[in-house]
Amino acid sequence: MDDFFKGKAFLVTGASAGIGRSIAKLLSENGAFVAIMARSKTRLEDLSREKEGTFLVQPGDVTLKEDCENAVRAAVDTFGKLDGLIQNAGVSMRARASETKVQIYQDLMAVNFFSMVYLFEAALPHIEKTRGHIAAVSSMMGKYSTQERSGYNASKHALQGFMDSIRIELMNKGIHVMVASPGFVQTDNTINALTEDGTPYGRMDRMHAKGLTPDKTAQIILHGLKHRKRDVFPAGPREKFGLFLSKFAPGLLDRALLRSKVK
Ligand SMILES: NC(=O)c1ccc[n+]([C@@H]2O[C@H](COP(=O)([O-])OP(=O)(O)OC[C@H]3O[C@@H](n4cnc5c(N)ncnc54)[C@H](OP(=O)(O)O)[C@@H]3O)[C@@H](O)[C@H]2O)c1
Repeated sequence: MDDFFKGKAFLVTGASAGIGRSIAKLLSENGAFVAIMARSKTRLEDLSREKEGTFLVQPGDVTLKEDCENAVRAAVDTFGKLDGLIQNAGVSMRARASETKVQIYQDLMAVNFFSMVYLFEAALPHIEKTRGHIAAVSSMMGKYSTQERSGYNASKHALQGFMDSIRIELMNKGIHVMVASPGFVQTDNTINALTEDGTPYGRMDRMHAKGLTPDKTAQIILHGLKHRKRDVFPAGPREKFGLFLSKFAPGLLDRALLRSKVK
């Protein structure tokens, strides 16, 4: 990549693992300064040792408004500005809606949706100054839905709706708003997914094991930032075909997803 990211300052949430870790690492390799937020301080510190002097370790829980505000403040205090916010922290789900406790829906909305609202409020005044980027790592499940993820899909659809609104509201301020909608990516996403009572699902789904690598996903996301894309789709042909069907033959997609063994 070229100098586009050099000297720019980003905040990446969910940077202790998976896609967020790869995004933060790739940003730093391209000369950016990166505030990295997640709950696991140890894993953030491990990442920060990979390129000394470029990371700001900011342990915190994105479901807490105060932690989100602290992360933005720390990034601006340390780097003197904020060029981009990448809300990537997220948790998935594996359970039928009829069996899922209401609390699970509240927990998924807190991580996958309300975090973005908290971070947006705190980061906007700084991103207005740099005319920078506000990006969210959503999912193909923010564009269409499949079974056993009702709370996850609802939270990602909410995130998509929020991002679509702010994109229009901020259009005349020169701020770039982007949604990344990955398909299957090889991370611990399914292992950490919540089941009906909140117990982690605990295993890697077959399609995820064969999915894109987090590094490839990060490359696609950074390319989208550089070219100020509206959407990016780090996904395989199967998930992209699902997106096509959701627009032009939604009933057919429903039936295909009912028969599918894919989780
Ligand atoms: N993997 C896929 O196939 C896939 C597909 C579509 C979309 N996505 C989306 O990609 C994003 C990243 O997921 P991943 O696949 O990389 O999964 P992952 O490996 O499970 O990573 C999730 C990250 O989010 C952080 N996180 C979770 N809850 C948090 C909280 N309350 N506060 C702060 N950080 C929190 C985790 O860190 P701590 O545990 O240290 O807090 C971790 O860094 C998510 O938004 C997910 O929905 C993933």
